[in-house]
Amino acid sequence: MSNKKKFETVAIRTQTERTQFSEHSTPLYLTSSFVFDDAEDMRASFAEEKERNLYSRFTNPNTTEFVDKIVAMEGAEAGYAFATGMSSIFSTFAALLNAGDHVVSCRSVFGSTHTMFTKFLPKWNIETSYFKVNEVALLESLIQSNTKIIYIETPTNPGVDILDLELIGKIAKKHNLIYIVDNCFATPYIQQPIKFGADLVIHSATKLIDGQGRVLGGITVGSKELMREIYLFARNTGPAMSPFNAWVLSKSLETLSIRVDRHCENALKVATFLEANKNVTFVKYPFLKSHPQYEIAKKQMKLGGNIVVFEIEGGIAAGCAFLDKIKMCSLSANLGDTRTIVTHPSSTTHGRLSEKDRLEVGITDGLVRISVGLEDVEDIIADIHQALGG
Ligand SMILES: Cc1ncc(COP(=O)(O)O)c(C=O)c1O
Repeated sequence: MSNKKKFETVAIRTQTERTQFSEHSTPLYLTSSFVFDDAEDMRASFAEEKERNLYSRFTNPNTTEFVDKIVAMEGAEAGYAFATGMSSIFSTFAALLNAGDHVVSCRSVFGSTHTMFTKFLPKWNIETSYFKVNEVALLESLIQSNTKIIYIETPTNPGVDILDLELIGKIAKKHNLIYIVDNCFATPYIQQPIKFGADLVIHSATKLIDGQGRVLGGITVGSKELMREIYLFARNTGPAMSPFNAWVLSKSLETLSIRVDRHCENALKVATFLEANKNVTFVKYPFLKSHPQYEIAKKQMKLGGNIVVFEIEGGIAAGCAFLDKIKMCSLSANLGDTRTIVTHPSSTTHGRLSEKDRLEVGITDGLVRISVGLEDVEDIIADIHQALGG
């Protein structure tokens, strides 16, 4: 039998060394810094001749435990935990890119990531070229002599489109580019992009990893070599995760697999219900046979995730009316919570985009996104059903 620990065992048994108090569950290390025995101990620690905690902006036992778990779950070598998913994404790019470099990204990425590409990276003369989800064949033609990174999200937010991790991994390898995947919607339980050639994997831990809508967090994991650059950037610029958040998130990981199993079971039932509703023009869920990239989803994902999107006939007004009729589910900006959350992207998160720009990322006027929670699925469906007009 293999000695490699299974997913759930890693999630539960990866643990910071016990203290003299013999605690069972990892305590919270709310401390900004750590003490040294003498001047030599301090010198050697700062010179990185010893692996130890110095200051919680660099490492802390709670963040190390959280990072060690995600590193093992993703099949990575090293990682660093950030205050939010966005600080993880920004720091990863800032650490690896130089002025004049170029990025190729899928157009369907989280809104703030897109803003980073279009508003902030150009300040350092870093440009991004985009391909649409159905244009992966064009990706190679976008690569220039100064391209350094290929960046994707799969499933995408909010459209739940699926990109072929393996295919893009081969292109990245052929051109010697750093391949980065935002794995937030899938979690390492559903999909491990490194298996398909990714060099770095990023998560917003705020979503399913926390899973209970409590804390913000982010993490980047990957090869030792790339993580060293990212670590040095983060250690000196300060986007570190707080020990408290790391403690919460590490506990959350202990139940990740059973929570995600149920989220996905509920989401598939909600998607199947919506497919049969006459007021719904289309439903998108990676594990529905009708999903345009169903075969790719089946190849690279263990389950379909907890996000379902669907379109109500009647455009923006119908989308808003649906939200107004919702009784139990929450109208909130988060996702991946125990509580089911409904959002209407074209009147909220993507409201400032032109209709053309929205359509480019698959957001039609009547599109509704549901982050399916862990309430009894019959109650979730009943709420959606009545809001759709019964
Ligand atoms: C796919 C994706 N990536 C990144 C982020 C950003 O994460 P955070 O809100 O933790 O900064 C989000 C947030 O919704 C997201 O959905």
